[in-house]
Amino acid sequence: MDYPSRVTIQTYDEVAETYARRNADVSAAVRRDIAAFAQALGPGAVVADVGCGPGRDSRLLRHEGLEVVGVDMSLGMLAAQVGGPVVCADMRALPLRPGVCSGLWCQAAVLHVPRHQVAAVFGEFARVVRPGGVLHLSVAEGDGDGWEHGAYGSTGSRWFVRHRMSSLEPALAEAGFADLDVERSTGGRDWLGAGPDVGCGEPACDQACSPSPRSWRSG
Ligand SMILES: C[S@@+](CC[C@H](N)C(=O)[O-])C[C@H]1O[C@@H](n2cnc3c(N)ncnc32)[C@H](O)[C@@H]1O
Repeated sequence: MDYPSRVTIQTYDEVAETYARRNADVSAAVRRDIAAFAQALGPGAVVADVGCGPGRDSRLLRHEGLEVVGVDMSLGMLAAQVGGPVVCADMRALPLRPGVCSGLWCQAAVLHVPRHQVAAVFGEFARVVRPGGVLHLSVAEGDGDGWEHGAYGSTGSRWFVRHRMSSLEPALAEAGFADLDVERSTGGRDWLGAGPDVGCGEPACDQACSPSPRSWRSG
């Protein structure tokens, strides 16, 4: 495994319990995105939660009636999960058959993939999502790649790759994901993403109010 990924995964192994505890609460925006994703797919749809971590979103997706398999490269993060099928795997080589998923949910995980491998990851997503399926993707918005140290009170480090829409959009289109519905948001860091087309419920909403990323449809 490449050095940035190996160190990042070691860090997640180390901080898994703390990560799960600190991220247990779900923002209203993520809840809304999960509901929209589920609504776009319909009950019983098979979904991969890629980079699922301790599985908070997997649980909520299951609660919406989806059949979810969690995928993560950190055994520690997977061990922090309660219930549900999971597989320890690298998103750069998903152990899933072509077209087996109706949807792929990937929240805050591609941000750790070395930049030169991101296009291949999108190709891998497109391989496992059936034509017409739905992708939810969120990444850190910004420029540059680098280490962040001391995650969750540990001595570990994580490799972060930030993205701009100007380069993300063509990479997704190249992989076969179209109909982008993009949002920006801020939190501890800036986020960029896309998803099924729902607003916040306000009649005048143009979706710029959303504090959470979205996804793309595979054509
Ligand atoms: C910031 S956490 C996000 C976890 C979860 N999606 C959430 O929103 O709470 C990033 C996750 O991506 C996983 N990850 C990083 N690189 C990965 C890769 N190449 N393949 C699979 N999982 C990866 C990490 O182990 C970690 O669990």
